[in-house]
Amino acid sequence: MTVYESILDAIGGTPLLRLKRLGEGVRPRIYAKLEFQNIGGSVKDRAALSMIRAAERAGLLEPGGTVVEGTSGNTGIGLSLVAAQLGYRSVIFAPAATAAEKIRLLRAFGAEVHLVADFVPRSDPGHLANQAAAFAASTPGAWLALQYDNPANPQAHLESTGPEIWADTAGSVTHFVASVGTGGTISGTGRYLKQASDGRVQVIAADPEHSRYGGGNGSLKYTEGAGHPLHPASTEDIWPEAFDTALVDKFISVSDRDAIFTARRAAREEGLLIGATGGTALAAALNLAETLDEERTIVVILPDSGRNYLSTYFDDHWLTSLGFLEPTTPEGTVRSLLTSAPAGVQLLASDLTAAEAVVELHSRDLAPDEPVFLVLDRGETFGTVHPREVVGVVTLRSLESVDPASLAVAAGIPYRTVAAGLPVGERTSQSAGRGLSETADGRHGAGLGVVAVLVDGRIAATIP
Ligand SMILES: Cc1ncc(COP(=O)(O)O)c(C=O)c1O
Repeated sequence: MTVYESILDAIGGTPLLRLKRLGEGVRPRIYAKLEFQNIGGSVKDRAALSMIRAAERAGLLEPGGTVVEGTSGNTGIGLSLVAAQLGYRSVIFAPAATAAEKIRLLRAFGAEVHLVADFVPRSDPGHLANQAAAFAASTPGAWLALQYDNPANPQAHLESTGPEIWADTAGSVTHFVASVGTGGTISGTGRYLKQASDGRVQVIAADPEHSRYGGGNGSLKYTEGAGHPLHPASTEDIWPEAFDTALVDKFISVSDRDAIFTARRAAREEGLLIGATGGTALAAALNLAETLDEERTIVVILPDSGRNYLSTYFDDHWLTSLGFLEPTTPEGTVRSLLTSAPAGVQLLASDLTAAEAVVELHSRDLAPDEPVFLVLDRGETFGTVHPREVVGVVTLRSLESVDPASLAVAAGIPYRTVAAGLPVGERTSQSAGRGLSETADGRHGAGLGVVAVLVDGRIAATIP
């Protein structure tokens, strides 16, 4: 047994667990590194402690100071628990869509939490990073952690996570798999393992589908804490300095569905209650394992606990509401309505003028009242998109009645989203999609009542 004199000494030193059931039938050995055993519940405790200690050494954080950061939760939890121990105030900016459990944990550890819009261009003053920076700049004694660019973030993993894995596998690790948020974990650990093995260890980045890191178009995802989305109105795509992409030998892309359901399998089959970034990494590791022989050893990082997501990934109603789960009896569900209604979704870029949109819709040969979703522009590549990226609905008829020079977006009306798996009777109770009811003022397409059907959290069809 270990005796600690300080809670801060209990950060790091997490065990490896051989995955017997999930890894059954695969040739290589798969070990999971249980980062949810850190005291704040995630891998980010390591980076938080390292960044605060580095700031103190550099004289950037002094007694009575305030720790500030923009974070999807876990880094904030780590920073606030370390800050409280060392006598600092902590102020955390988090996206409004962050799982409720993480927001509550932040407050429980003493953080002052500010929720901000979660999908705005980087240049927008409302962006998470800009809000945190503005607060830090106007607060005497404040220090902004800047985890995305802070070298003390990957350094934490170079000094702890990497050496732990090397020692605990007695140098037998051949493949290291991790999801990438700031890139701190994969870069620091990857660098250590490459150095220790003379370059033999392969570093694999498990990346949410559509993430820019793995070459996607930056569409949103439900996997919280990893991947790199990009708002279409962003003028530049800024990657974190903490992420050393040169270390990555391979990216493996994992859908939200695979991430979530692999996390759920891990809970039931291995007793490992983990979040979706752990599910992403595990799914990638299992995929990789198919290509390897029995001489190989994979180590996969499980960054945080499923306790953070009991109201989301582990909640059947949440999953059903987004179309990830079907009810046990499919008859009478929204999906059953789609067999008779035309499936498929028409999408239009939101930066077209009404006149351009009319030309475009005529070229698609659409009926005058067929609903079209206005999406945030993804140029040539947009396909089915995350509901939060959809601005509203127009029809050819509604566009023809507005000023041709005005932005098509001005004619957008709200729509509702409904899950494919819900019973038909429940479909009206679903949340409204993001629309522009204030600009629609009932003139254009009033009463259209478009319902967007969600399958795997994405708009896959419409029903009248
Ligand atoms: C749940 C979760 N998984 C994975 C990561 C990725 O870790 P890193 O920032 O070291 O790349 C984070 C970090 O923000 C996280 O919160």
